[in-house]
Amino acid sequence: MKPLSTLLSSIPPSATLAVADKAKALKAAGRDVIALAGGDPDFATPAHITTAAIDALRAGDTHYPPSRGTIAIRQAVAATLGRDYGLEIDPATQVLVSPGGKFLIYAVMAALANPEDEIIIFEPYWVSYVPIVKLVGATPVTITLPANDGFRITAEQLEAHITPKTKAIIVNSPSNPTGRVLTPAEAEVIRQAALAHDLYVISDEIYEKLIFEGEHINLASLPDMVERTITINGHSKAYAMTGWRLGWAAGPASVIGLAAKLQSQSVTSAASFTMVAGAEALNGPQDAVEAMRQSYKARRDFMVPALNAIPGVECDSPQGAFYLFVRFPGLSDDSMEIADILLEEAEIAATPGIAFGQAGAGYVRFSIATAMSELERAVARIEQLMAKRQA
Ligand SMILES: Cc1ncc(COP(=O)(O)O)c(C=O)c1O
Repeated sequence: MKPLSTLLSSIPPSATLAVADKAKALKAAGRDVIALAGGDPDFATPAHITTAAIDALRAGDTHYPPSRGTIAIRQAVAATLGRDYGLEIDPATQVLVSPGGKFLIYAVMAALANPEDEIIIFEPYWVSYVPIVKLVGATPVTITLPANDGFRITAEQLEAHITPKTKAIIVNSPSNPTGRVLTPAEAEVIRQAALAHDLYVISDEIYEKLIFEGEHINLASLPDMVERTITINGHSKAYAMTGWRLGWAAGPASVIGLAAKLQSQSVTSAASFTMVAGAEALNGPQDAVEAMRQSYKARRDFMVPALNAIPGVECDSPQGAFYLFVRFPGLSDDSMEIADILLEEAEIAATPGIAFGQAGAGYVRFSIATAMSELERAVARIEQLMAKRQA
């Protein structure tokens, strides 16, 4: 047989999905595994959202919708951006709704990048950025943010990585995996670089509703940024809708138009009735989002001091999202080894930090989108493990 695609063969499967799948398989085999590897809220989708989809199905909304998304959901996206950030977005030309934020990052990247282009990605990064840049044939240029400076973005480091080939910068705030929220000074560093070097900014704001300290900065709404910023967002995290596969992008009509072309020639559209639910999520009451945010905060406030109280474990407090980026100097500085020990000796599934780039080498990521009772059990197991190890 002739060889398959060299490009696709060179790209690893999603590390987070792989660890989560392994944990599920072990659970199915009867092992009492505490699953902290995935990024899937443990909450049910709020009832009014689910009801909207069921009503749509019953009303026969089961046919091809417009490829870019229903008018209703695109209007809901534009209204949300107007309300939250004062952006004036044309729902007809500047919004694309797709089956998930991940596909949107791919579609927007495909719209922006040519093979000679370089795309800047800050490390630790969300696992899919590098593979997506490679999938569209462009070159990822990673910037390893310094852990000892709280993974802060500086003008010096950013400028040192910009070349005439740089096309775009990917920004993710709040960050998966670190939980860091971009500061106004960092946003200004990115804005200045984008303006000075004529760069696009892909701003992945999927955790924007889940912030505990600090304030979310929508990069598109900063001065002169609207024409060069593509905001990526989605329903998965804020509304506990991971399985619905729904996300949206808003940006310049030229970029959105090309991304929409890719969508129309590949997945066609998001599902019709999920978009009814998605519009309800954006337009309807937001109290369930706030309740989930508070619950994640309570879990963080339990977990961070509890972990730091265990000798050989260190964990900074995330300002947003629902992950903890944890070091285990008492176990190893190799993230794969830490994850293996946690799984084998404490039956805790965690994502090795190396999945998020070299900057994550000494870390594992725990998801706190997990019931408090499970988190309490996890802490008890880690206490036992570390006591055994230090004995
Ligand atoms: C930073 C970040 N961006 C985008 C996504 C994509 O989410 P979805 O495709 O479910 O919308 C995720 C999911 O884990 C994420 O963590």
